[in-house]
Amino acid sequence: MNRRNFIKNTLITAAGAVVVGSALANTKIFGDKKMKILVITGSPHKKGTSALLADEFIKGAQEKGHEVFRFDAAFEELHPCIVCESCKTGEKRCIYKDAMEKLNPKLFDTDMVVFVTPLYYFGFSSQIKMVIDRFHANNHKIINTDKKAMLLATSAGANGWTMEGLVVNYKNILRFLGWKNAGTLLATGCPVREVIEKTDFPKKAYELGKNL
Ligand SMILES: Cc1cc2nc3c(=O)[nH]c(=O)nc-3n(C[C@H](O)[C@H](O)[C@H](O)COP(=O)(O)O)c2cc1C
Repeated sequence: MNRRNFIKNTLITAAGAVVVGSALANTKIFGDKKMKILVITGSPHKKGTSALLADEFIKGAQEKGHEVFRFDAAFEELHPCIVCESCKTGEKRCIYKDAMEKLNPKLFDTDMVVFVTPLYYFGFSSQIKMVIDRFHANNHKIINTDKKAMLLATSAGANGWTMEGLVVNYKNILRFLGWKNAGTLLATGCPVREVIEKTDFPKKAYELGKNL
């Protein structure tokens, strides 16, 4: 096998092994209920790989009649949590007046949160992680609130373990928040848009939304 075919076959094998969470169970979980869905993206690439997954997921979900609010973290004014604990003392509010003020009402009210991220050093991108860390100010309003979540992620690497750290992080966040995992789409072997467009990951993202 020459080098080109080896790389091609390796990527196809890796892509084929990707887990598409519990997407099939969604029909039973959600029935015909029209949901509010909050999609939080974490890439600075408006036309990148993860943006494509977000676009396709949203298309499917909206066609099914769900209400979607999209928050592109990389294009919002945000600050990282500095654990000043102002949110727990005194006025009991975050010191930052930034885009979280727009996001929070949606977060409190949503039925599902979809985290869409490129893999950065085997975890969430810093852009989306900053939003997750800022949940801290309002944990009491979102813990055990019967929410579902999904994870859509893209990576250049295509090893079996490439997304392991991200998935453990995601699942522990859900465990802490008491939210249910409604599915994961792990698009490994997708460094750039031109590559992911040739895979069936965009279609799978669409179907995840459409099957809710
Ligand atoms: C800072 C940085 C860190 C990255 N870390 C990883 C990594 O740990 N593993 C991996 O497979 N790909 C990694 N990548 C590649 C991206 O995950 C990949 O190119 C992805 O498709 C980019 O998504 P986007 O187009 O939505 O921004 C990294 C890219 C950047 C810029």
